[in-house]
Amino acid sequence: MAIEVVDLTEADIPGVIQVIQQAFSDDPYFKWVFDEPSFNAQRNYDSLAARCRWGINNAIFQVAKETTSPNNSPTPILGVSCWLAPHPSNQPESWYSWTQSWLLSFRQLITNIRHRGHGGLRTNRYWIWKTRQQEAQASIWDDPRGYYFCNIVAVSPEAQGKGVGRMLFEAVTKRADREGVKCYLESSKNVPNVMIYERMGFEMKMEMECRDGEDACMLYCMVREPKTE
Ligand SMILES: CC(C)(COP(=O)(O)OP(=O)(O)OC[C@H]1O[C@@H](n2cnc3c(N)ncnc32)[C@H](O)[C@@H]1OP(=O)(O)O)[C@@H](O)C(=O)NCCC(=O)NCCS
Repeated sequence: MAIEVVDLTEADIPGVIQVIQQAFSDDPYFKWVFDEPSFNAQRNYDSLAARCRWGINNAIFQVAKETTSPNNSPTPILGVSCWLAPHPSNQPESWYSWTQSWLLSFRQLITNIRHRGHGGLRTNRYWIWKTRQQEAQASIWDDPRGYYFCNIVAVSPEAQGKGVGRMLFEAVTKRADREGVKCYLESSKNVPNVMIYERMGFEMKMEMECRDGEDACMLYCMVREPKTE
């Protein structure tokens, strides 16, 4: 089976969301940040669709799929990744990027109004995570050129362990190596993900605890130095 990694298109969005929802169904961070009994899968779908549309123009949003299908029907999405390109610390955010972020926030607001709420998202926990994330990045990110930041990576459960994740990573890490730029990710699972990311050249830098009373969730902050071969 020949697999290619290509840029996300509008037509891929339903398949991408299916992969993300399946791959993250047992994810410790998602279990912590969402209240399961009130989880609204349609609201989550709409929210992810808004992020995908934002990502087409503002991120490195890629999908892995088979190069051809037997009867020319659309090929299923096997995996997806979303990376933010490095942003040098001495450069202010561009107007384009600022406007696009506000457009995304506005779309998320419309989603929340349509679904009459956050669909089970515990917003206080979301903000705890955002605060811890800012603190972690402030202490780990020491390269003024910025980092390729892996925001989402997911492979469909049937396709896991077959090299699809490596293909998605290498589509960006090879570029980072050519440019001499570091990469960064926050893994929401220790076993087996930390080991998988180590195989991709990442090193553990910090364990990040997000705590809400008795309930805590750990995230694992990892950095990859550029390789020169
Ligand atoms: C994490 C994930 C993206 C990895 O993708 P994948 O396609 O399964 O990984 P690959 O098959 O490309 O394997 C990559 C490397 O990790 C190794 N690996 C894969 N699964 C492993 C496991 N369970 N234990 C140890 N090593 C493993 C492989 O041997 C390979 O190394 P190699 O190329 O040097 O031989 C995928 O498993 C996934 O989507 N998991 C569920 C969702 C998730 O956890 N997303 C990330 C949240 S932070």
